[in-house]
Amino acid sequence: MADRVRGLCHPEHSLIGFFLDRLTRPLFRSLDPEDAHGLAIKALKLLPRRHPPADDSRLMVRVFGLNFPNPLGIAPGFDKHAEVVDALLGQGFGFVEIGTVTPLPQPGNPRPRLFRLEPDQGVINRLGFNSQGGDVVLARLAARAAAGGIVGVNIGANKESSDRASDYVGLIERVAPVASYVTVNISSPNTPGLRDLQQAATLDSLLARIVETRDRVSPRAGPTPVLLKIAPDLSLAELDDVVGIARSRRVDGMIVGNTTIGRPPTLRDRKTASEAGGLSGRPLYPLATRMLAETYVRAEGAFPLVGVGGIDSGATALGKIRAGADLLQIYSALVYRGLPLIAEIKSALTAALDRGEADKLSELVGVDAAAMTAEPWPV
Ligand SMILES: Cc1cc2nc3c(=O)[nH]c(=O)nc-3n(C[C@H](O)[C@H](O)[C@H](O)COP(=O)(O)O)c2cc1C
Repeated sequence: MADRVRGLCHPEHSLIGFFLDRLTRPLFRSLDPEDAHGLAIKALKLLPRRHPPADDSRLMVRVFGLNFPNPLGIAPGFDKHAEVVDALLGQGFGFVEIGTVTPLPQPGNPRPRLFRLEPDQGVINRLGFNSQGGDVVLARLAARAAAGGIVGVNIGANKESSDRASDYVGLIERVAPVASYVTVNISSPNTPGLRDLQQAATLDSLLARIVETRDRVSPRAGPTPVLLKIAPDLSLAELDDVVGIARSRRVDGMIVGNTTIGRPPTLRDRKTASEAGGLSGRPLYPLATRMLAETYVRAEGAFPLVGVGGIDSGATALGKIRAGADLLQIYSALVYRGLPLIAEIKSALTAALDRGEADKLSELVGVDAAAMTAEPWPV
């Protein structure tokens, strides 16, 4: 009986695996995108806990004092409420970032608020931080804490908050004991005014308070690296300020980046492109990768970077590493390519090492960054 259940649930061969795989196929994508996402979460909840096969040791990455078994994580937004952390780790991700979580529960924007740009392999969302809130998410993380794995918590402010900085500070204090790291998300385009927190003076005082709080709780919570996630839409002058402040406030890393409010002229699905919200997926890759390289040259090795935005293959993953990323995250490509993409990317990374491009991935980090910053700005 146990074998039968295992057989049904093994993701590669099972009904549930078939179902998850179908999520990635055009027919299944005829569902409303948010309904399809809800079904994917339900299906992942049904998977039995399993440990993925051990990763090639050359894929291991040590940054922020943490040992990542491989550099590929799932970006926040997929598991906003920490419902399927262990199922995602079981699929072979090197780490999972949950959230964005806000202090109090909030519904986010009215539906429809999630759109696929099929011909472009892109996604537009204006979810607006729909969150079950800190209490619920914290309880879930505490309940699975003994299972281990690297679980980052992405935090944000409530839409109606009268003191957004205090939302971040309060959340850091609460999540530090159950978070492998915390990401300060000041770059979502879907909460009016949130991205203003990236302005120099505001950011400086916000990061000062956050780092001070992290340091104050560390005797009981343990060390909690603080990462800053930025928008790819910053000007280079703004990026100068943001990286300078992140360095002087000694944040542990930066994530480049969030969705873009821009709409590249190359987009084919012009009708969907006119929806308000943040664009992600393949059309984001050139801008996000350029901003990653620009961040890398400004950071000068002060902290590691997480590269996210448009990764949908082994080649694009390697491109992010060569632009300056120690770690990678994916989301939108899972909509189009499904869970097999995880193994495909990891195989491509080991194949690059087998070909002799380097002995370990860290040797490739940033090798193309300077050259990229000299290229014409991507359209
Ligand atoms: C539906 C959706 C929801 C998202 N929600 C969040 C979020 O809550 N917090 C966050 O920091 N980023 C969020 N993101 C942004 C992703 O984490 C990621 O930065 C962006 O999608 C670029 O990566 P991708 O091209 O691989 O999707 C979301 C993205 C999508 C598509």
